[in-house]
Amino acid sequence: MRLMSVKYFVNLKKMKNIAILGTGMVGDAIGTKLVSLGYKVMMGSRTANNEKAVAWSTRNGILAVSGTFSEAASFGDIIFNCTQGQVSLEALQLAGRENLQGKILIDVANPLDFSKGMPPSLTVCNTDSLGELIQRQFTDVKVVKALNTMNCQLMVNPGLLKDPGNLFLCGNDTEAKIEVGGLLRSFGWEKIIDLGDITAARGTEQILPIWVRIMGTLGTPMFNFSIVQ
Ligand SMILES: NC(=O)c1ccc[n+]([C@@H]2O[C@H](COP(=O)([O-])OP(=O)(O)OC[C@H]3O[C@@H](n4cnc5c(N)ncnc54)[C@H](OP(=O)(O)O)[C@@H]3O)[C@@H](O)[C@H]2O)c1
Repeated sequence: MRLMSVKYFVNLKKMKNIAILGTGMVGDAIGTKLVSLGYKVMMGSRTANNEKAVAWSTRNGILAVSGTFSEAASFGDIIFNCTQGQVSLEALQLAGRENLQGKILIDVANPLDFSKGMPPSLTVCNTDSLGELIQRQFTDVKVVKALNTMNCQLMVNPGLLKDPGNLFLCGNDTEAKIEVGGLLRSFGWEKIIDLGDITAARGTEQILPIWVRIMGTLGTPMFNFSIVQ
């Protein structure tokens, strides 16, 4: 009995706090998954009482709280960037350099520009990417690009597909990628491909134009890429 409670205490100690920057469907899905796994999660927004963030925390109970981008970044040991890709750098500035310093930032955002309608174009591509822009602006943050190549329901529940396919990640810090890989395995991902340093984000972000076309053709966002050799 005593052993059990010591083990429980050790497990509790190991759980990291997680920040979700973003109140859209991606932040909601990832935040909800993390709470279901037992993490304390703070969802951040530009404003302290964002309606969607408050509704999300109410729905998810005591492990789920909401606040500003800055409060969430300060709270999180690990941070998910689930903000609109075009404005992610602004959102991260609001989160505060001092609150992000030394932490893992899992960048889920895509730099999509819908201003000319569908299909969207990328605001940065070919020789650069949003993942790299973030890493260059926040040099002491461990940016890991991941999850951005699939629909958010699938991100947190790969079992929705008979063959879930692959999850790609990339980043400059090997230990950060190992930790993120472990976290995403706990979401149910098995086939994770580490594509190398953060410049690989060019490739995973440039998947989006074909992803959007496939969604239009299939009439559903519930699909993924699977690499065969
Ligand atoms: N939808 C998917 O299944 C999917 C799949 C893969 C990747 N992604 C990517 O995931 C990210 C999140 O997507 P989403 O649909 O959940 O949400 P979204 O509508 O793209 O973004 C919502 C967040 O962006 C913030 N934001 C908007 N304008 C801002 C500004 N000017 N300055 C600072 N922050 C601003 C909002 O702040 P407030 O909370 O203050 O309003 C909100 O938290 C996007 O980059 C998207 O491309 C989405």
